[in-house]
Amino acid sequence: MILVLNNLLNPGELASIRSALGPQAPWIAGASSAGGQAVTQKDNQQLAQDSALAQSLQERLLQAVQADPLFFSAALPRKIFNPLFNRYGGPSNHYGPHIDGAILHSKHTGERVRTDLSCTVFLSDPGDYDGGELTVHDTYGTKSIKLPAGSAVLYPGTSLHEVRPVTRGQRLASFFWIQSMVRLDEHRRLLFDLDMNLLKLRQQHGETAETTALTGTYHNLLRMWADT
Ligand code: NI
Repeated sequence: MILVLNNLLNPGELASIRSALGPQAPWIAGASSAGGQAVTQKDNQQLAQDSALAQSLQERLLQAVQADPLFFSAALPRKIFNPLFNRYGGPSNHYGPHIDGAILHSKHTGERVRTDLSCTVFLSDPGDYDGGELTVHDTYGTKSIKLPAGSAVLYPGTSLHEVRPVTRGQRLASFFWIQSMVRLDEHRRLLFDLDMNLLKLRQQHGETAETTALTGTYHNLLRMWADT
């Protein structure tokens, strides 16, 4: 499932994050943090993870994402690998097709995180750069994603994906991985659909015997599939 999360950051927050990510920020070559096959494909810049700036921006990003109920319902997060920040433009402008490593080790928390889902938060206005689409190839076909600043996309970690070359301007984004309480994308999808439709049924009819029973089904499926 690919899901767009709209307006996670307001214009004031975006302006402040973008100015913190200016040329003075501690940018390093993105390839320094890629492993295996990905390193040959990665040509962008990344904010030094251990910098004080990265740590303060990570907290702001996580707060904004976790305040969105759609994020919780779709991802059912158990662990989040700390958000990273990247910049595409000039000679370092793309990240060719790759699959992210299955298990990441966070220096920040010392934890291992299984990358069930990926999330990219777009920070630049799409009118300010050309190219830079996040392209996700999966069994349902290929999808090209370029969102308004402040919006995000959630997609399965199992997907082959790439960031197309930025041919004008600069693309700033944040991205992170989520280990879900529910390992399989198909299971998360069923739970998400059930949750969203229960929400609509409640809005239309209030609480009924049927919504109560289906909420029970939701929780019984979650109990069957979730690890905490
Ligand atoms: Ni990737």
